Amino acid sequence: MIAVFDSGYGGLTVLKPLMDQLPEYDYLYLGDNARAPYGNHSSENIKKFSEQAVEYLFSKGAKLIIFACNTASSVALSHVQQKYLNGSKETEKKILGVLIPVAEEAITATKNHRIGVVGTRATINSDAYTTEIHKLNPNINVYSKACPLLVPFIEEDWHTKPEAVSILKKYLKSVKSCNIDTLILGCTHYPLMIKDFARIMGKKVKILHSGNITANKLKDYLLRHPEIETKLSKKKTRTFLTTDDPTKFKEFTEKHFGIKISMPQKVALD
Ligand code: DGL
Repeated sequence: MIAVFDSGYGGLTVLKPLMDQLPEYDYLYLGDNARAPYGNHSSENIKKFSEQAVEYLFSKGAKLIIFACNTASSVALSHVQQKYLNGSKETEKKILGVLIPVAEEAITATKNHRIGVVGTRATINSDAYTTEIHKLNPNINVYSKACPLLVPFIEEDWHTKPEAVSILKKYLKSVKSCNIDTLILGCTHYPLMIKDFARIMGKKVKILHSGNITANKLKDYLLRHPEIETKLSKKKTRTFLTTDDPTKFKEFTEKHFGIKISMPQKVALD
């Protein structure tokens, strides 16, 4: 099965396009809601939480884990890849993140070589997007801005209120002044405000987020890696796990993502 890991609900913005574009696979979604948001945690904590999630998902039979969480991808992905995959003979398991697919798309999209990145504090402080973009093209200018208030606004369902839009405008002021032509929404939650991002940035700025891009790239990846693809079960099951209240998880998911889901199971990771 394909496991999708996130700090909470946000990874559903990645799971949804995955299920739409690759519907034949079994999916296991894990939201660590009890410890979300990850964005203000220390790197040590984010690495520890990510290790626990990986161990849990592998123990449940996951062959491929997608880190949908930008914060976990930025801070902990290479750490868990080294810890759980390197040096082992295990070539039948993979852990992939969302940063590389989005960075690849961004360098194709930009014409003026000026890219903006917004995300949680931990994502922006890690500089991981800049690092990935510069690996692909060191001549690109990257302008980043942490937007830590957006996740709580979205989770409280306040993101359509004028207060949220006015905070977003303040956050975007600096990246907007850098004449970027491409903006990466480097956080799972931000697609829920994508219309506001687009309006504030203006028509000339292309807005990218990880959902569709990750699904497209995964499709391509699975074609190129039959040793992984053939290990993935294909019974179209969808299982949801949360470390917090399952009823709240189900209600939030159905309201914000328009997906009807069975009651999630509550699990403990620590
Ligand atoms: N899922 C996180 C991300 O994409 C946002 C929420 C959090 O801070 O945990 O960065």
